[in-house]
Amino acid sequence: ARKIWFTRHGESQYNEKGLIGGNSSLSKRGECYARALPAELEKRIEALQAEGQGQPLSVAVWTSTLKRTIETARRLPYAKVQWKALDEINAGICDGMTYKQIEVQYPEEYKARGKDKLCYRYPAGESYMDVIQRVEPVITELERERNCVVVVAHQAVLRALYGYFMNVPNKDIPRLSMPLHTLIELTPLPNGTMSAAFFPAD
Ligand code: G3H
Repeated sequence: ARKIWFTRHGESQYNEKGLIGGNSSLSKRGECYARALPAELEKRIEALQAEGQGQPLSVAVWTSTLKRTIETARRLPYAKVQWKALDEINAGICDGMTYKQIEVQYPEEYKARGKDKLCYRYPAGESYMDVIQRVEPVITELERERNCVVVVAHQAVLRALYGYFMNVPNKDIPRLSMPLHTLIELTPLPNGTMSAAFFPAD
């Protein structure tokens, strides 16, 4: 059976400082994860190959266009595709700020997002509803794809993808747990749904 793997990028320099958005490179810890990822996947791919009587499996890697996902995928020995549609939620005027700074500088915005995280749209940016819509073409391709796919993306985007495949109601998508340095393995079930397992790989 084919698998779909989701992973967030390794910890970025912005993550380290508690800043949202941006386009920073990986931190030391993030680099460590990028180095550990190939072996984590390889052992799962080998197991799948063994199940399939040694039939070679094709694996594709899909990243966003941001440095932190490209750097996380760099050591993976599979064909790669960059998707703009996988870029992180656009935080608009709040890009590059900490949550604390947003609370102080834009208290009304901060409150509004707390009240309705799904529909709240950052000024000059996006809402979770926007992201859910934006990833639709990626979902269509993922469903069409016969090969295994490793999706290296971002917290909000992976919440949207995971929510779709696991039938999570939209209202719960913005608060799904999506830990760093964790491989999420989706397995299609015969009834058309998916099962998911989380493997910390730190
Ligand atoms: O920078 C954006 C975060 O990865 C998304 O997190 O939607 O929980 O603020 P949030």
